[in-house]
Amino acid sequence: MTTPACLSTRMKFSTRLPLLLAALAATTAVAFAAAPVLPGWAFPSQTPGGTRGPRGTPDDGGPKRVPGSDVALTRAQITGRGAPVADWHPADHPPMPDIVGKPKTEQNLLSCGYCHLPTGAGRPENSSLAGLTPGYITQQVLAFKNGERPGSDARRGPQTNMIAVAKAVTPEELAQAAAYFASLKPAKFITVVETETAPKTYVVGNILAKLPDGGTEPVGNRIIEVPDELERFELRDARTPYTAYVPPGSLKKGAELVAGGGAGKTIVCGICHGADMHGLGDVPRLAGRSPSYLMRQLYDMKNGARTTLNSALMKAVVAGLTEEDMMNIAAYLASLPP
Ligand code: HEC
Ligand code: HEC
Repeated sequence: MTTPACLSTRMKFSTRLPLLLAALAATTAVAFAAAPVLPGWAFPSQTPGGTRGPRGTPDDGGPKRVPGSDVALTRAQITGRGAPVADWHPADHPPMPDIVGKPKTEQNLLSCGYCHLPTGAGRPENSSLAGLTPGYITQQVLAFKNGERPGSDARRGPQTNMIAVAKAVTPEELAQAAAYFASLKPAKFITVVETETAPKTYVVGNILAKLPDGGTEPVGNRIIEVPDELERFELRDARTPYTAYVPPGSLKKGAELVAGGGAGKTIVCGICHGADMHGLGDVPRLAGRSPSYLMRQLYDMKNGARTTLNSALMKAVVAGLTEEDMMNIAAYLASLPP
C-alpha cells in the first residue's frame, strides 16, 4: 500500500517535531543563560520587580526654592523644552559655555549641564565630570559616539541620550565643555553608611528613591544610593546630598582590593588612578564618585560593554573580580574624599 504524499510529509514532520522542539529548547536555554542579570541597584531602570510608585514629588506649578539659594524656578522653567539649565547656585561655578548651559533646541538635544549639572557633580544615573582632565573627557565623548560605550543595558535612557549628544556635539563645543568641566573642583555629596538594613526604594526616572513611608528592608548584597530629599533631586539642585547604604564590612573589603589588590585577585588601583584615587594624567579620578556609576563601569568593562582603547588596561583588573567584589570596591571608592 502506498502512503499518500501528504501523509508521509506529515509523518516525517511529526517524527522530526520532537527533535525540532528539543533543538529550540536548547537554543532558548542558551539564550536565557547568556542574558546577564544586571545588578538592578546600579541600573535602576531595570530593577526586576522594582516597585514603581508615584513619579516623584507633586508639582503645583508654582515657583520652587532650594536651600542656600535666592533663585526661584517653576518645574516648567527647569525641565521645559528650550529651558536653560537650572542654575540654583551661580557662585559655585564659572560662567557656563552655551553647550553646557543651553539646550540645542533645533536638534532636540539637552545641554551637558542639564544632566551633569552646572558644577559637574552629576547624578547617579549619569556621571560626575568635575576635575576629570580635558583629554579624558574628550576621549570618552568620542567613545560614546563611536559605539565603545554602549553600556550593559543598551536601552537605558540616560545612556542612549548621552550617545545621541556625543554624536551631535561639534569638536569646538566638545573642547569648550571639556575645558569647563575639567576646571571644576569635585565636591563631596555622598555619605556612605554601612548598615544591615536600607530604606525600601522605588524607581523614579532612572534612580532609586526612598519609598515614602516605605520602612526598611535588608540591604543584602546591594548599594542603595538615594537622594536625601527627592524634591531637590527633581529640581536638579547641584548641591543635592545623597546617602549610599552599603553592606556591613564592604568598606574594609573594598579597601583591601583597592589598596592591596586583594592578595593577587586584582591590581592595586593607585598605580594608575593616582594617590588617594584622585586621578593620574588622563586616568580618571575615582574618589567620592557615585557608587552606582562606578559599579556600572566595572560591570560594563568586565562584560564587554565598555571597550575603549584605554579600558584594555582595566581588563586584568576586573577579570578576577566577582560582582560582590565590584560592589565592595564601589562602596569604598564612594566613601573617599573627592
Ligand atoms: C541626557 C543626559 C546627558 C547629557 C545631555 C550629557 N550626558 Fe554625558 N553622560 C550621561 C550619562 C548617562 C553618562 C554615563 C553613562 C554610563 O553610565 O556609563 C554620561 C557620561 C559622560 C562622560 C563619561 C565620564 C567618565 O568618567 O567616564 C563624559 C566625559 C560625558 N558624559 C560628557 C558629556 C558632555 C561633554 C556633554 C555635553 C556635550 C554631555 N556629557 C551631555 C548623560 C548625559
Ligand atoms: C594599569 C592601569 C590601571 C589599573 C591598575 C587600574 N585602572 Fe582603572 N582605569 C584605567 C584606565 C586607563 C581607565 C580609563 C579607561 C578608558 O579610557 O575608558 C580606567 C577606568 C576605570 C574606571 C572608570 C572610571 C570612569 O570615570 O568611568 C573605574 C571605575 C576604574 N578604572 C576602577 C579601577 C579600580 C577599582 C582599580 C583597582 C582595583 C583600577 N581601576 C585599576 C587604568 C587602570
